[in-house]
Amino acid sequence: MTGLKMAVLVSGRGSNLQAIIDGIQAGEINGEIIAVISDKREAYALRRAERAGIRTIVIEESPPEAFQQALLNCLRALGPDLILLAGFMRLLSSSIINSFPGRIMNIHPSLLPSFPGLQAQRQALEYGVKVTGCTVHFVDEGMDTGPVILQEAVPVLEGDDLDSLSERILEAEHRTYVKAVQLFAQGRLEIEGRRVRILPPAPGKEEIV
Ligand code: GRF
Repeated sequence: MTGLKMAVLVSGRGSNLQAIIDGIQAGEINGEIIAVISDKREAYALRRAERAGIRTIVIEESPPEAFQQALLNCLRALGPDLILLAGFMRLLSSSIINSFPGRIMNIHPSLLPSFPGLQAQRQALEYGVKVTGCTVHFVDEGMDTGPVILQEAVPVLEGDDLDSLSERILEAEHRTYVKAVQLFAQGRLEIEGRRVRILPPAPGKEEIV
């Protein structure tokens, strides 16, 4: 079986990208990252990709339509099996989403549908919830609204501030994203409307969820 070909879209620090790179190197994910694409030349995620010997692409076209078209052209030329959004700070156009149905994932730092959008950890603290967490979901045209693949709960502790809570959620994000990609690579995710069914492992394969 040939491995999954992934493109990862980033805008910033790239710790989730790093978790995926590490998951591949550890043999937990059967696949390879064929390119890391950024809308920001200075994104630290690009340095992580270079360090791992992965092709990097920067797309900086500025009117939004030109950016989306350039990104679509780039993705079509690459032909990935799976596109991962990892701290990518733009919504994707419907042409991009429709070109890769059920093949784009995002990670979000809350238990969706609570606290979509920016600063989810701050929203959780300000609301006063006792449990938050992270969500990996397929991407649809909404903001953080697509079918949920995996979630991990993270308690909000007495004395938590934005940094301490964000840090614990981030650790959960890294675990959860690797697991979700692993499941996709094993062909174990099936979308049925809003629900994502997780199929049992093939005989002889280790269960990971
Ligand atoms: C993460 O919290 C992710 O959930 C959100 O953006 C942040 C990206 O962090 N979508 P990193 O760039 O992966 O370190």
